[in-house]
Parts: sequence; structure tokens; C-alpha cells
Amino acid sequence: MAGSRLELVFGGVPPEGRLLLIGAGATSDLNFLDPARVQAVQRLYPDVVALKAQGFAPVTEVEGQFDLGLVFLPRAKAEAHARIAEAAAHLPSGASLWIDGQKTDGIDAILKELRALAPVDEVQSRAHGKIFRVTLPDAGWVPENWAARDIEAAPGFVTRAGVFSADGPDPASQALAAHLPEKLPSRVVDLGAGWGWLSAQILQRPGVGVLHLVEADAVALDCARRNVTDPRAQFHWADARDFKLPEPVNGVVMNPPFHEGRAADPRLGADFIRAAARLLTGAGRLWMVANRHLPYEQTLREVFADVAELGGDSRFKILTATGAQRPGARKPMPRGRKR
Ligand SMILES: C[S@@+](CC[C@H](N)C(=O)[O-])C[C@H]1O[C@@H](n2cnc3c(N)ncnc32)[C@H](O)[C@@H]1O
Repeated sequence: MAGSRLELVFGGVPPEGRLLLIGAGATSDLNFLDPARVQAVQRLYPDVVALKAQGFAPVTEVEGQFDLGLVFLPRAKAEAHARIAEAAAHLPSGASLWIDGQKTDGIDAILKELRALAPVDEVQSRAHGKIFRVTLPDAGWVPENWAARDIEAAPGFVTRAGVFSADGPDPASQALAAHLPEKLPSRVVDLGAGWGWLSAQILQRPGVGVLHLVEADAVALDCARRNVTDPRAQFHWADARDFKLPEPVNGVVMNPPFHEGRAADPRLGADFIRAAARLLTGAGRLWMVANRHLPYEQTLREVFADVAELGGDSRFKILTATGAQRPGARKPMPRGRKR
């Protein structure tokens, strides 16, 4: 905790009372807190795993009433508003609500907004961010439009603030859907399924008997459940990187993430490729889309025998691969080459 903004305000001492903690994740230093007096609210599966490892029992939605709150600011402003509104709904008037965030995530704009709505003090700056305290006025101070609400991303599709491409279908996913074959295999996985747009396109192709939607963001997956009501769909709140099924599948379709927070990190997409290879039969096939500049072909060739580009444009490339390397299996030769 040394050097963190939390140290500046809490000094390594757990605050009195029951603490509502919204948005803490793998990188939050929470050692000074007593997990028994904390409810950690987190929607992202990998962060939930990290919080559990630190002794917390995270939930995806706030349950109960608390004495004080600490909100970590997300990138999307609408999600930041929703977190603050949710915290305020579960705290009494007069309670302290701490807000912590990076400059790049808009902490200064939120500070300005909150100063106009409630008493704010204890503003501290450190490590490219700020933390401050809001003393909650009587109920009704939070603007009504801050609460989490459905967004209509496309006809028949709902999303929520903070989910990937919340305003509409992602152009890369649209490019991938346009390159999928007329008929798809019988058992398919959509890795990183988001709110389900791509999955809905997959289910329109003949041949699919079961489609597994794997998604780390619980809110996105809840939207997908509402958007994709086809009985062939199965929903998994999981980390795609270590997702397993009892039986291998014969198709994986994915538009993998390539960001951890703000930083571009192609390792995430590379891990998705390895996960896809583990999920597929040797004859199964992967279809994926990636930003043109991302170097995924090397990873694809490490874990698939046959890799090809199906098309794309200056922004995206659509890649396909088959001949997945099952653990312990001998790597098959690419088509047309003799051993
Ligand atoms: C580029 S988006 C594609 C979403 C969706 N397929 C679409 O077409 O709109 C990648 C998705 O992967 C999810 N994601 C990120 N990391 C993940 C992980 N480790 N495991 C599972 N899903 C993850 C993100 O929440 C996001 O919804």
C-alpha cells in the first residue's frame, strides 16, 4: 500500500464500519482492509478471482446497507455515474463516499460534477490520480440519469454502460460476421462474447447445434442472456484464457480483446488464440478478427497447423486456422507439405 492514494487517506488503518467497495480489482492494494467488514462489488471475472485470492467474497451487485463506500472510477463516464449512484443508494445520508481514480479515467471531471452536488473534501493527488471524500446529503442528490439503465444498441439488443461497444455492433465483429461461411460447425464457442451481437449472427448460420458464449464481464453476459434467447445458447461467466469444456468443439469464433485497462496488450489476444486451440478438435476451425497491426499470425502458427487470412481491409484482418495442437499431440504438417 506504500505510496498509494489509499495510504494517503486511510494510513494503513481499516476504516470503522462496513465498507462498500465498488470496482476494486487485481491491481488494487487492499491489504489494510478487513475482508469480513467489506463487500467488494466486481463484474469482471479475472478481478473476482484476484479478490477471492485476497480473502474477499466479491458479488456482482450490491447487497445490503453499509456505513461508508469507496468507488474506483472506471473509464466509461456513464459507468462511473452508475457506480456512484449505486453506492449512494446503499449508504445513509452523512456517510463518507470515497472516490478514487486516474486522471486518464476522468477523475477531475467527476470531482467537478460532485462538488456541485454534495460537500467534497480530503482531495488528495498522487500517482497521476486523485482520491476525495463526498459526504452524502439527504437522498435525492444523485441526478436521476446516473443510475444504470438499458441502452438500445441495435433493434432487439440491450447493453449497459461499461460493456464493450455499448452503443452498437462493433465494426470488427461486423467484418468477421460477413466472412463467416454459409454453414458453421455443430459445436461452437464465442470467446469474449460481450453482449451477444456476434453470437446472434453465428446462430443465424445453419449447422450450429450448441453455442457457448464465454464472457468475463458479468454485466455484458447478462445483456447477452437477454439478447440471445435461442435455446442452443449456453452462457459462461469465465476467463476465456482458462475456460474448459468437457468435450472439444469444432468451431471457435472470436473478436478477442487487446486491451487491459487503457494499455494495448496483444498478449491477451494471443492467450485467447491458445485457449481456442485447446478447445478445438484437430479438425475444428477458428475464425477471428483482429486489428490489422496486431501480430497474431505468429501465435496462430504456434498452435495451429494451417493459418490463412480470409480478407479484411486497412483496419481489420479476418483470420482462420485449423489443425489445433492438442496438448501432447504431434503437430500436423501444414497442408501440401511432406514430412
Ligand atoms: C472485442 S470485444 C468483442 C465482444 C463481442 N464478441 C462483440 O462482438 O461485440 C471482447 C470481449 O472480450 C471480453 N473479455 C475481455 N477479457 C476477457 C477474458 N479474460 N475472458 C473472457 N472475456 C473477456 C470483453 O469483456 C469483451 O466483451
